[in-house]
Amino acid sequence: MCGIMGYTGSKRAATVLLDGLARLEYRGYDSAGVALLEDGTLFVRKRAGRVSELAESLAAEGFAADMGIGHTRWATHGRPTERNAHPHTDGTGSIAVVHNGIIENHEELRAKLEAVGCRFVSDTDTEVIPHLIAENLHLGIEDAVRAACAALEGAYAIAVVSEAAPDRMIAVRKGSPLVIGLGEGEQFLASSVDALLPFTRRVVYLEDGEWAVLTRDSVEIFNRDGNPVEPDVKTLDAAAADVELGPYPHYMLKEIHEQPGVVRRMSAERIRDGRPVFDEMTLPNSELAAVERVVVQACGTSWHAGLVGKYYLERLAGVHTDVEISSEFRYCDPVLDPKTLVLSISQSGETADVLEGVRLAKGRALRTLSIVNVERSSIARESHQALYMGAGVEIGVASTKAFTAEVGMLFLLALHLGRIRWRLRPEFVAEQLDAFRMLPTAMERLLSSPDDADRIAAGIKDAHSMFFIGRGPSYPIALEGALKMKEISYIHAAGYPAGELKHGPLALIEDGTPVVVVCPRDGVTAKTVSNAQEARSRGAFVIGVVQEGDDEAASVFDEVLAIPAAPEMLSPLLTVIPLQLLAYRTAVLRGCNVDKPRNLAKSVTVE
Ligand code: G6P
Repeated sequence: MCGIMGYTGSKRAATVLLDGLARLEYRGYDSAGVALLEDGTLFVRKRAGRVSELAESLAAEGFAADMGIGHTRWATHGRPTERNAHPHTDGTGSIAVVHNGIIENHEELRAKLEAVGCRFVSDTDTEVIPHLIAENLHLGIEDAVRAACAALEGAYAIAVVSEAAPDRMIAVRKGSPLVIGLGEGEQFLASSVDALLPFTRRVVYLEDGEWAVLTRDSVEIFNRDGNPVEPDVKTLDAAAADVELGPYPHYMLKEIHEQPGVVRRMSAERIRDGRPVFDEMTLPNSELAAVERVVVQACGTSWHAGLVGKYYLERLAGVHTDVEISSEFRYCDPVLDPKTLVLSISQSGETADVLEGVRLAKGRALRTLSIVNVERSSIARESHQALYMGAGVEIGVASTKAFTAEVGMLFLLALHLGRIRWRLRPEFVAEQLDAFRMLPTAMERLLSSPDDADRIAAGIKDAHSMFFIGRGPSYPIALEGALKMKEISYIHAAGYPAGELKHGPLALIEDGTPVVVVCPRDGVTAKTVSNAQEARSRGAFVIGVVQEGDDEAASVFDEVLAIPAAPEMLSPLLTVIPLQLLAYRTAVLRGCNVDKPRNLAKSVTVE
């Protein structure tokens, strides 16, 4: 997590850095800071809180510096205070460093540096870096940075400026992403392309272990052995620039409304002649057809999508599927035989635990396939094959349209596997795809009548605790509904398989406790309705997500969120929408910061 931005050129560096940092705030927003080099002197300014607060204080000072680095922080080591905000400096205040990642041996390094007289002013792991550079500065700034990095263990992306070499900015990538933006007489550096879009479309993604020296007129890149590397310049397409809020009050609401478009685009690109198509797939069909087990690994909302995917992969492709949370998967010494396919799912493509899961699988010589949103992200690049979900830029920390895109991709992939494994009749596949194509219209209908979610949100906004339940593919939707609710409205919410409520959680039901029951028309509707009744008879306020016209089921509930009819397989792509709207409206009524919930970040690049 954390966002890094760097600039050298002829513009006011402070303005460029603040613009970039504001676009990187989804990576963390505990504090923000910049280091500016003006006439050879380093000025560091930082604030606890948002980039906008830093911008206010900088405005008064009017720095004219044309070079600098900036940072927006998601706290790991040390509380989110001004003292712990980046940039950090050496004892003389002439070297400044911004860092994303974790230095695992920082305590040992700190003890050594303190023993030779270095004085530390923060609680961060980062502060060892400028001190280490200072200790080696006699080698020249570039070799000093290399020597410092040689002592560091862990994952990091760093940017360094110093009074000793005021014409250059040095960047190093080991484990955490960094992108260089190329301009005419100016160069940029950022944790992700989002920050570079207003300035340039020509970018170079640093590979792991590479470091770069940026001056106004040049960019030199070196590999971990110190040998120069020819920059591989990519041009970003215009779609990547679509990050404006438009008429919506929040990105989350905008992204909820983009879901029909996501499915429509996916249908246009990935359905041809009654078949799902994955033109980019380099894993041979023979290899995919021979897979005996799929292990899905992911975190957060992407893990929930994976749970829906299990249902698809088992029902449609007939392949045994396990779904693991990446932070558990990578440390549980999993049993993985050679016919296992490891399928990783990640919106950002940068989640540290998911990336390590990919590396673990590759280390066991297994095939790795990934469903990723951000192109050229680390997970995409390190997997044998990446399938891009094409959801467009997702800014809201609470993921919505990426979930829908992930589930859509899993559905199409399961149909593809089912076909090449000779399990599915072509007519069945074509029927499923026709139903998939109809989804956007149903989604638009749902989105055009948000009144029920509004009314119910007003009724539950003061709840202390909520439950979400469902069976089969509605169970992951219950988990996702609960996650959306807790992360943006701060109401405690837990998701359970509907049949599990009576094995413990029912003890927590009091008069008026909201219980959201996801029960579209499927083979287990009656069972789920019974569970709703059990909760209601103990005083719960039960809210049903039911199919339009299902009066029998609806009669059990105090409130109903109706969804258009859809085949059982596809209901998760509809039932999730009223739950997203319910969480959104509840959070707005509670006055919460919907797009930037407290303590969270969108791209989790630390373990
Ligand atoms: C963070 C985000 C979630 C996301 C999860 C996994 O927790 O706030 O919205 O679901 O990371 O992220 P990924 O990018 O790997 O899908």
